[in-house]
Amino acid sequence: MADNEKVMDSDKDPNVSTLSDLPDEIPNELPHQTALINRHAILEKSPTLLLIFSLLVVSIGGIVEIAPLFWLENTIEEVEGVRPYSPLELTGRDIYVREGCYLCHSQMIRPMRDEVERYGHYSLAAESMYDHPFQWGSKRTGPDVARVGGRYSDAWHVDHLTDPQSVVPESIMPKYAFLSDTPIEPTHIEALLKTHRFVGVPYDDDMIAAAASDFRVQADPDADYDAMLERYPGAAVSNFDGQPELTEMDALIAYLQVLGTMVDFSTFTPADSR
Ligand code: HEC
Repeated sequence: MADNEKVMDSDKDPNVSTLSDLPDEIPNELPHQTALINRHAILEKSPTLLLIFSLLVVSIGGIVEIAPLFWLENTIEEVEGVRPYSPLELTGRDIYVREGCYLCHSQMIRPMRDEVERYGHYSLAAESMYDHPFQWGSKRTGPDVARVGGRYSDAWHVDHLTDPQSVVPESIMPKYAFLSDTPIEPTHIEALLKTHRFVGVPYDDDMIAAAASDFRVQADPDADYDAMLERYPGAAVSNFDGQPELTEMDALIAYLQVLGTMVDFSTFTPADSR
């Protein structure tokens, strides 16, 4: 055996230290000042304790975030001009929901330049504060209709809803001609207004008492509609569908014509963001 041959025995190698050389210390043990954190091991080793403590932490976080909302006076900045829907508009809105128009149309203009240039001023939270449920939508097979009110004549809407392709040949919107053949009566209108009052829409007793007559006069330009307009300023009064009787077409168009028209954006200035 040659002299220079190395003996590969780590026990005898002075450069190698092993556990047995350090009898009192476990290598890599955390310094003593972090001992408290080591107690976390108790939690990590017991699934039940870990679950209980996680729930505790999550509920504290939840309470801190959610509880203030119940005490805040209002989370929506009130904007002049926004009023509850008139009885006829509210009925039209129910037809809009029933027919699933929201599946193809959103009612929320985002504050991006392309949207504002196409549809008009971006939507304000206050503009849907009386919508139960809101109709923001998330699908735009057709255009956003948040500001479609006043953009077309009533007659255009009748033609378009009856046969969309007659006015927009490439349209894929379905036909809703049957709405003109479906007469409506304000049978449940008081209950409808009361239900909305129950969820926070400020319909007063006067509005509820007059609901049925307001419903009729809005679609009858020959009637005395002044009191209705006082209750619902800016409501469009018209024989929307051009037929003598009141139909679902009247109600739906009354609703479409008010969309996005309540706030006067020539005078509107957003409150300072604080
Ligand atoms: C299958 C999808 C679809 C459904 C459902 C649908 N629409 Fe449309 N809508 C469209 C498309 C696409 C257009 C664009 C072409 C056109 O004007 O017809 C459109 C256009 C419109 C417009 C014109 C908007 C503008 O700014 O030019 C109005 C108003 C409208 N729809 C109302 C309604 C109403 C009310 C309902 C429910 C009764 C409805 N739509 C259901 C697809 C749909």
